[in-house]
Amino acid sequence: MNEAVRTILQTNNQAARQSAPESDPGFLWDFWYPALRSTKIRGNHLVTTMLLEVPLVVGRTSEGQPFAMRDSCPHRGIPLSYGRFDGQTVECSYHGWRFDAATARCVEIPSLTNQDKLQVDRVFAGHYPCEERDGYVWVCMNAPGSRLPENIGAAPALPVFSQKYKITHLACELPSHVDQGIIGLMDPAHGPFVHQSWFWRSKHSIHAKEKQFEPIPYGFRMSPHSPSANSAPYQVLKKMTGETVTTTIDFVLPNMRLEEIRSGKLWFSSRATVTPVRRDLCRIDFVAAWNLFFLPVPLFRMFGKTFLRQDQETMIKQAQGLKHDPRLMLIDDADRPAKWYFALKANLLEARRTGTPMAHPMSGPVTLRWRS
Ligand code: FES
Ligand SMILES: [Fe+2]
Repeated sequence: MNEAVRTILQTNNQAARQSAPESDPGFLWDFWYPALRSTKIRGNHLVTTMLLEVPLVVGRTSEGQPFAMRDSCPHRGIPLSYGRFDGQTVECSYHGWRFDAATARCVEIPSLTNQDKLQVDRVFAGHYPCEERDGYVWVCMNAPGSRLPENIGAAPALPVFSQKYKITHLACELPSHVDQGIIGLMDPAHGPFVHQSWFWRSKHSIHAKEKQFEPIPYGFRMSPHSPSANSAPYQVLKKMTGETVTTTIDFVLPNMRLEEIRSGKLWFSSRATVTPVRRDLCRIDFVAAWNLFFLPVPLFRMFGKTFLRQDQETMIKQAQGLKHDPRLMLIDDADRPAKWYFALKANLLEARRTGTPMAHPMSGPVTLRWRS
């Protein structure tokens, strides 16, 4: 393990433990994060949420454009969400300053007289770029006191492969630092123990596996392969199309796992993101889309919820253990993806600090072997 990775592991262990606001919480700034479901913002309602320990107030202008502001008035810090929103401006509940929702620019300070020199339009509330995609409001988070880079790119979109498809969303909160949530998400070895179900697999189906991985920008890919023969849903798919089934799984910084399953014209695409709310709380947002005519949404949701609940219950138990700051291990090969994650994160931070190109922890394709 290189020094940077070791430091990150230590820092994150400390981060999860300490609540002192001055310690580095180990978040990755200047990325898009899903803040909430689009359906949550309707009419002139203001909704509060939190990303990376930043309190946000989110709403939708009368033109339908979502916006996100720091939920704090720049005057005296009272949450703007206590104020009123008329579809254009947010009025603070304390002294009635009004802010244009789309730009967060102040448009009125009622206490000013025509003697006053203060330029109202120079006053801004904190605000963040906001885009709607795949049924989420995404917010691009820059660190407090810093500016967003010029070119932040568009918010992520779930890949889909036909015009008509079904789509569904699931979410669950984990009482964990985002790093624990992410390495839990990419961990191949917990499946037979945590996700035992009659419809998926049992602990006795454990067998040796060998998977190819390759580097991709900001992440790594489990190269296209035919999924485990012991998983019932894949067998059904293969029977349906009579063609081979291939699965590709990507992990991309800051927090995203994408899975694509294709067989002939049939496809399934999913994305899980683990978003830091606070240093001791993160949320998995899972969205899946597919054109598999034999898979009804309610059935899929039932399976999906079971999976997420199994992970959540495990993370709740793990959090009990992590309170006492144990020494932890990452082993080869099953934890190699987790090592890559920590190395990618360390290398990104280093590249940003030095202004040099980001080094990738993988120099080429790698085969990993484990039993699961
Ligand atoms: S605190 Fe918001 S207007 Fe004074
Ligand atoms: Fe899991």
